Parts: sequence; structure tokens; C-alpha cells
Amino acid sequence: MATLDFTVIFFVSFLGFISLCKVVTGFIKWVWVMFLRPPKNLKDHYGSWAIVTGCTDGIGKALVFQLASHGLNLLLVGRNPLKLQATADAIRERFGTQVKTRKVVVDFSKTSGEEMSKTMEGVIEGLDIGVLVNNAGVAYEGATFFHEVEPEVVESIIKVNVEAATWITKAVVPVMAKKKKGAIVNIGSGSYGGFLSYPLYTVYAASKAYLTMFSRSISLEYKKTGIDIQCQIPFYVSTKMTKFRRSSLFTPTAEAFSKASLGWIGYGEHVCVPYWPHSLQSFVLKLLPRSLKDRCVFLYYLGMRKRMMLQDSREL
Ligand SMILES: NC(=O)c1ccc[n+]([C@@H]2O[C@H](COP(=O)([O-])OP(=O)(O)OC[C@H]3O[C@@H](n4cnc5c(N)ncnc54)[C@H](OP(=O)(O)O)[C@@H]3O)[C@@H](O)[C@H]2O)c1
Repeated sequence: MATLDFTVIFFVSFLGFISLCKVVTGFIKWVWVMFLRPPKNLKDHYGSWAIVTGCTDGIGKALVFQLASHGLNLLLVGRNPLKLQATADAIRERFGTQVKTRKVVVDFSKTSGEEMSKTMEGVIEGLDIGVLVNNAGVAYEGATFFHEVEPEVVESIIKVNVEAATWITKAVVPVMAKKKKGAIVNIGSGSYGGFLSYPLYTVYAASKAYLTMFSRSISLEYKKTGIDIQCQIPFYVSTKMTKFRRSSLFTPTAEAFSKASLGWIGYGEHVCVPYWPHSLQSFVLKLLPRSLKDRCVFLYYLGMRKRMMLQDSREL
């Protein structure tokens, strides 16, 4: 009997010890990747030009400055020629002639996929393309039931968030595959990271679910070709999309997010949460029961919708 007791205690302690080791090594790895791991030398590793879509505001704009500070030349892709010129001017002012820029004006919501692809094939010809960031994105103006979303908003979300990333990747992959190196980053969203349902922003969250699965699957197809493909997941970031004017630890500025983002480019994880407070949020969210998360998120956005409608009725 005593021998049996001892065996059980030994076995349970052993399992406890293994679990503890797993937690400790997981934590050490997290500290390493979040705070200590140096960013890759993207220029040497992949090539001297980076393409960033939606680079005229928010995360995309902050990212082009990060990439320029690492010595990459920039292909700036956006829909507004004046904002594109302002971004190019700001880069020239900060980095002088060390960083070359080229501008590509394309409104993804009004351009067919094949046209996007053809345009990109034309502009990248002869350039040593190392990095592509599919960042351009649009969301709803506020929490909205699916049947109320304007058809042009649904169309625009699908075209900008889904089609543009797909067709631009289609133009760039053969070029990267030919030289056997390259990095592609798709900017996903905490609205779909596998943690939550996202009612009242359904089409937006679904578009990000597409990007996550697209990145995950295509990254396996091209791993042996030397192309590192990744979906990066931001939670809230203070930009014109979220309309959060103030930043905080959990709602960073676009600059803080983009710095974290750059540190992850080219590292193995196909889907990652690069900014450490967001990573903590995702850890906690994964622990909570789905039914509780679904209820809380729905109530939160219903409240937001009520406040938005109240504000609209006051303005009328
Ligand atoms: N901010 C967040 O909390 C958050 C959270 C999760 C994921 N994200 C994702 O992060 C990415 C960047 O978001 P953000 O917050 O930086 O948004 P943002 O400040 O609104 O910037 C979006 C960028 O996309 C461009 N864009 C929009 N529609 C376009 C179109 N039809 N054709 C070409 N370019 C277009 C915008 O151009 P203009 O300058 O002309 O408007 C702008 O440069 C998006 O994919 C978004 O879904 C953001």
C-alpha cells in the first residue's frame, strides 16, 4: 500500500515538475522574444527595398520610418497622392538621400485585383524587393449590426483588407522566390487572432480571419523558398481607425507598435502578437471561457453602439 502511495506521489510530482518547467521555459522564451532578441538586419537578410501599403497614416506610416531607420528604401503605396508626397517628404527630411522612396498611387477599394497585381509587377521590376508589409486596412465607423452595414463599406473592407493583400502578395512572391529570399508581413487584428468572436464588427473581423489563415497556409508553401511570411496581430493602437486620441500601455502609439512589429519580421512564428502588453492580453483571453468572452465582447460593443447612436441623435 505504502509503495503504491509513494508511486502515485512520485508520478504526480513528476508531472507537476514537467508542467512547471514548461511554464518557466515559456516565460523565459517570452522575455527573450519580447525584450532581448535583436531585430533582423532586414536589408542584408532579404533585400534593399520594402513595400508598405497604407503608409500615409497610423501603423503603416510609423512602419516606413522604422524600416527607413534600418536602411531600407521604400515603395510607398497609398490612395492619396498628397499624403504620399507628405510621407516621402518627411522621410527625405529625416533620412536625407540615404533612403530612396518611390510612390505608388492606388485606391484599393476602386481597383480590381488583377489591376493591383499588374501595377505592382510594373513598379517592382528591377528593384531588390526584400520586405512587403500588407498594412492598408479599413473598418466600420462604429459598432454596427451586419444588416445595417452599408454595401459600399462591406465592399471596401473586402477589397482593401482581403483582396489587396492577396493580389499584391501574388505580384511579389514570384520575385522573392526567384532570388530565394524575402519577408512578407500581413497586419491582422486582435478582432481575429483565434481568441474571440467579434460581433458588430463582423465583416472586419472576418476579413482579418482570412488574412490570418492566408498567412499561416502560404507561409508553409514558401518556407523552403526562403520567404518568411507572417501575420502580425495588433490589439488596440491609437490611430485614426480606432479614434483613440490618447495612448496608454495597452493602446500604444503607432510608433511604439511599429517598433515592436519590426523586431518580429523574419522570425519563425507564422502568427504573432508583437507588442508585449497585447501579448499579455492575448494570454489572458486564451485562458477565459469562450462563452464569457463572447458575452462580454457583445455587451461592450452594444454599449458602444448605444453611445454612438445617442451622440448622433444629439448632433442632428
Ligand atoms: N489601430 C488599431 O487599433 C488596429 C488594431 C488591429 C489591426 N489594425 C490594422 O492595422 C492596419 C493599419 O491600421 P491603422 O490603425 O494604422 O489605420 P489608419 O490610421 O486608418 O491607416 C490606414 C491606412 O490604410 C490606407 N488605406 C485605407 N483605405 C485605402 C484604400 N482604399 N486604398 C489604399 N490605401 C488605403 C489609409 O490611407 P489614407 O491615409 O488615405 O486614409 C492609411 O494609410 C490595418 O490593417 C488595421 O486593420 C489596426
